[in-house]
Amino acid sequence: MSSPKTRLTTSAGNPIADNQNSLSAGPRGPLLMQDYQLIEKLAHQNRERIPERVVHAKGWGAFGTFTVTHDITKYTCAKVFSEVGKQTELVSRFSTVAGELGAADAERDVRGFSLKFYTEEGNWDLVGNNTPVFFIRDPYKFPDFIHTQKRHPRTNLRSATAAWDFWSLSPESLHQVTILMSDRGIPVAPMYMNGYGSHTYSFWNKEGERYWVKFHFKTQQGHKHYTNAEATEVIGNSRETYQEELFGAIEKGEYPKWTVYVQVMPEADAEKTSYNPFDLTKVWPHGEYPLIQVGEFELNRNADNYFTDIELAAYSPSNVVPGISYSPDKMLQARVFSYADAHRYRLGTHYEALPVNRPKSPLNHYHKDGAMRFFTNDFGSPDAYYEPNSVEGSAKEDPSVAEPPLRISGDADRYNHREGNDDYTQPGNLYRMFDDAQKDRLHHNIAEAMEGVPEYIVQRQLNHFHKADPAYASGVAAALGVTFTPSEG
Ligand code: HEM
Repeated sequence: MSSPKTRLTTSAGNPIADNQNSLSAGPRGPLLMQDYQLIEKLAHQNRERIPERVVHAKGWGAFGTFTVTHDITKYTCAKVFSEVGKQTELVSRFSTVAGELGAADAERDVRGFSLKFYTEEGNWDLVGNNTPVFFIRDPYKFPDFIHTQKRHPRTNLRSATAAWDFWSLSPESLHQVTILMSDRGIPVAPMYMNGYGSHTYSFWNKEGERYWVKFHFKTQQGHKHYTNAEATEVIGNSRETYQEELFGAIEKGEYPKWTVYVQVMPEADAEKTSYNPFDLTKVWPHGEYPLIQVGEFELNRNADNYFTDIELAAYSPSNVVPGISYSPDKMLQARVFSYADAHRYRLGTHYEALPVNRPKSPLNHYHKDGAMRFFTNDFGSPDAYYEPNSVEGSAKEDPSVAEPPLRISGDADRYNHREGNDDYTQPGNLYRMFDDAQKDRLHHNIAEAMEGVPEYIVQRQLNHFHKADPAYASGVAAALGVTFTPSEG
């Protein structure tokens, strides 16, 4: 007889006498409908899977601690940065973009780099990548772009033709394509890569002055990458190398660390820069806006349960705290909408009440009811279920945390984001920073990724490489074994 503490029960708490043999009429069956627990087990199993993330489905994560090491209070009043030495708990999740939940870890792809800081003013989410730029600058193109990364409707295979067709028709992708095809395209594990907030966000300080800001997370483990050949061998041995490395390191007490920096631009400078500082396909030159050290974070605790702690984690760029906000970046604006919408679909209305998403700061809102409302409707008093109200001690807005007003103007129109935009100088500068061996690997990685792509798409893409740097195009053409003559325009 087991003690009541360890006795197996139904989900209603009723003790179970036999968990080995189903209930049948005679030893050979058939089964009896009243075997509730058999039906419950089968029914529950059918509901174990939730929709995977539409992008970034395969991921690895852990909990950690952010520590402020340098004072940046002149730029932001965010409490998470309020004093040197201050620590904030966080949960991280890294991911590949295109592969499904079961994808191999060591594939060439951009890596997601998500951090949820449990601050005293609610959750602050930075949902970035391991690259400082992105493939597109207008969110109108995001579903189209992602379709090219996912499976072809008829073959059900990934299509290199679709990817290069889209990229070659979208010159703004060149910067990110160059990073993706470079050595940085296959990090060895999450701890060997940098993270970037990528977008321009904003800070404001207690004087109400606004700054534009970019976030950088530099790995303290050093960069480590696989070549295509190495990755093929790795995947042949294990499809789960990132999980093995990250989980294993933390279990051993070898906590991965990143140094946190910001680039800060005074609000008015955005009018003066030669490039659009809100264009996600561009970096801000470090010479003009140097990295300012802020702190570091380490990952020091593995999830107790991967599903509840990492799979149910719901990151959203909409989660900001007083002192940190958005910017006019069109991509960021769309993301502020898109993620919470995805969470409502993937996890349900009350996804923010799940333990991994629940803020560790006081929570007061007037949203009510709905499916799986397993926590109280009442914050403070059952009479305060609308606002404004006359109920003593009920939750009220706090004007002191208001963001300073942002001057905006302009005629409503669909502005051609490809007109007058220099898509070539920054990718060309990046290309010229590579040494000969790095350039050679880049050329060959691209050639391999272009296998089976029709000649006219290849030629169109070579023209983009040429505009960035003629050596870039001739290097890729040589690796492909094709002749390339630049076309006009
Ligand atoms: C995941 C939309 C651009 C980084 C997602 C998800 C959606 C989405 C719907 C799945 C969320 C979920 O089910 O939990 C979009 C849209 C974009 C965009 C509409 C552009 C308009 C970007 C950019 C970055 C990024 C530019 C990085 C700078 C990520 C990451 C995840 C993600 C890291 C995984 C979050 C996690 O770990 O759970 N995105 N995305 N996305 N996205 Fe984006």
